[in-house]
Amino acid sequence: MLGKIPIDIQKIKKDNLEKQILRTGILAELDAINLYEQMADMTENKDLEKLLLEIAREEKTHVGEFQYLLLEMDKQQKKELEEGKEEVKNLIDK
Ligand SMILES: [Fe+2]
Repeated sequence: MLGKIPIDIQKIKKDNLEKQILRTGILAELDAINLYEQMADMTENKDLEKLLLEIAREEKTHVGEFQYLLLEMDKQQKKELEEGKEEVKNLIDK
C-alpha cells in the first residue's frame, strides 16, 4: 500500500537525511489521501464517506506541512517547483 523507498538508509549522507525523511512523510500522506478517497468511493454509507473525505482533507494539510519544511531545507526543490508551475501555466495558457 505504501510507496516503497528503494534506498539503504544507512548510506544516506547526514546532510540529506532530514530532507529524505520529509519526502518520505509526503509520500506517506499522499498514499493516505488516495486510500481514504478510494474507500470513500467504495462505501454507500454517507456518514462514513463524509468522515473518510474529511480525513483525506486533513492529510492534504499534512502534505503542506511536510512540504513547507522541505522547501525551507531544499532550495533547489523550491526553485524547481516554481519552474514546473510556470512551465505548466505556459503550456495550458493560464
Ligand atoms: Fe497525515
